[in-house]
Order: sequence, then structure tokens, then C-alpha cells
Amino acid sequence: MQFKFKIQEIAKANKSRLVLALDLPFQNPNSSQELISKADAILEQVYPYICAVKINNHLVLPLGLFDGIKALVDKIHTKGLLAIMDAKVNDIGNTNQIIADYYYTAGFDAIIANPFIGWEDGLRQLFEVSHRQGKGVILLTYMSHKGAVEGYGQTVIDSATGASVPQYLVFAQKNVAYKADGAVVGATIPEKIKAIHQVLGEEVPIYSPGVGAQGGSAEAAIKAGASYLIVGREIVSAENPAETARKFWDLTKLV
Ligand code: XMP
Repeated sequence: MQFKFKIQEIAKANKSRLVLALDLPFQNPNSSQELISKADAILEQVYPYICAVKINNHLVLPLGLFDGIKALVDKIHTKGLLAIMDAKVNDIGNTNQIIADYYYTAGFDAIIANPFIGWEDGLRQLFEVSHRQGKGVILLTYMSHKGAVEGYGQTVIDSATGASVPQYLVFAQKNVAYKADGAVVGATIPEKIKAIHQVLGEEVPIYSPGVGAQGGSAEAAIKAGASYLIVGREIVSAENPAETARKFWDLTKLV
């Protein structure tokens, strides 16, 4: 089954559109056992309220892919959830394929990549290695931080049509053409979610980070067309992560 349908099933079963960004703050890399215990504890508290976990360099760098992350991914799967690697893959095709091979061997179900690299000898290999194994590729389409306007927000000449268009709308069209499993669009700019959703329709679901800590609103992102919300610090750094996750779940739950 394709990743986008796998996550849809789990989201329906858990009535949840929440993807937990399991990002822990920097700490002494010699205390990796403490980091693992903290990550496990948060997962244990919030798993009933989420449909997937997104992992980033916050954990991969200090724990190592096969020394610590693989066991965490296994644990995510035993909770009935999927694991997304926020690798923002951004290299030539051969390198992308090897990056993906490692993450998929560690058990990840999907990977985030940067569409700026283009298709031939870039994204093609990543999509091929992913879709052959039922894994998902989720493409950055408009990032959540302010500086995103300089790249994703610039006006470009579409190489296919010669027309002047916003970069993010070109990427939205490419999401559909490439059969991407998801598009990342920041919750901080709901009007961009709306415009991108109009191009993606129901083909490519929108994953929206930037809720809470970065100032985005969960309800506004969903109203604009986001299917999933990626939430990190607001839950992970909360005094009571379970209670905070439950509140987000309640506010945004699938009915
Ligand atoms: P917070 O703590 O801000 O964490 O809720 C958000 C998580 O998502 C990552 N992030 C992004 N990832 N495209 C991405 O692929 C984006 O536009 C984007 N904005 C934030 C961030 O690194 C953290 O893991």
C-alpha cells in the first residue's frame, strides 16, 4: 500500500491528524541513554493522540541511525504509528538513493525531500527507491520560517510554460506530477496552504509544521486545507506532553 494511504488509515483509526516532531533540545552527546529515555517517555505519553512521528537531526545526530534510532522506529511501529524522516534530502540522485536506503533499512516509512534539486538525476532516484518499497516521499513546498519567501516565495519563469509564477505553485504542480505522498507547507502562512491545496486537490495531502512554537494556528491550517499537522516543541517541551497532545487532538480531530 502507498504511504499516503497507510497514514490515512492510521489517522482515521486514531481520529488524529497529528504528526509528533520528536525533537529534543541539545544535550551532552555522552548522555545518549538519557535522550533515549526521554524520547521513549514522550512517545509513551502521546501515542494515542497521533498518527505518525517525525524524526529529525535532533535525535539522529546524537543517537546514530542504527545504534539508537532504529530501536525508536521499531517502538513507533509497535504503537501502530508510522515514522517519517525529516532528512530534507537535497543532493544528486545517486546520493539521495543511498541516503534513502539507509533510512528505510532503519525502518522509516517516508522521507522529506527538497524539490529545488529537480527530477532528472535528482528526485527521480529517490522516488523510484521509495515507491518500489511502498515508502513515501514528502516534498517541501513552502517552508514555515520567514526566510522561506526568498526561495519558495520568489517569482520564477516556469521552465515548462514560460509564464511568471510563484515558485511554490510550480512545486505544487510538480508534487502532483511526481506523485508525491505529501507536501510540506508551513502553518504560519495559511493563505499559501489554501493556494497550494487548490493545485494539489485530494491527490497530495498537505503536512503543516509551524503550529504553536512558530506562531501558526492549527485550526487555520486545517481550514486552509492541511491534512496533517506537524507539532514539535509545543508538545515535547510541555510540562504535560500527554495533556497538550490530547488538547491538540481534541481541537483538530478527524470525525
Ligand atoms: P516545532 O517545534 O516548530 O517543530 O513545532 C517543527 C518541526 O518541523 C520541522 N520544520 C519543518 N520541516 N518543512 C519541514 O520539512 C518546514 O517548513 C518545516 N518547518 C519546521 C522543524 O525542523 C521541526 O523538526
